[in-house]
Amino acid sequence: MIALGCDHGGFALKQEIIKHLEEQGIAYRDFGCYDESSVHYPVYAKEVAKAVLSGECEKGILVCSTGLGISMAANRFAGIRAAVCTDPFCAKMTRLHNDANVLCLGGLVVGKGLAMEIVDTFLTTEFSNGERHIKRIQMIEND
Ligand code: RB5
Repeated sequence: MIALGCDHGGFALKQEIIKHLEEQGIAYRDFGCYDESSVHYPVYAKEVAKAVLSGECEKGILVCSTGLGISMAANRFAGIRAAVCTDPFCAKMTRLHNDANVLCLGGLVVGKGLAMEIVDTFLTTEFSNGERHIKRIQMIEND
């Protein structure tokens, strides 16, 4: 199950991501927002963070205008490793090295085609389980 969240700046791209997940039969839960009325991105970052930390959802995808504010809000929650990705290489590396559990996208930054490649890469790349990467993640979590 993938947890989805966005603010008004990410709403249009989140709708495209929903279509994309549905086409692939990937289950998701949409924590809002549900239209383009102005809202506050920390609200949706928190809902997605809680869903990932509780185990209800294995990963999350958050979208705001830039991906930046919503990633900062999500990363306030211990155990959340939210990564802003602007290309598939970053999506691949943040899964391999950081075991990122939340992908953050900017609705004003990436187009639909690129965004879907980023989403696919993020969702299909497994953590490397490399010893040095595990140690570094533990250092983040235990700080
Ligand atoms: C909203 O205008 C915008 O600030 C928000 O979507 C996000 O990009 C913040 O980082």
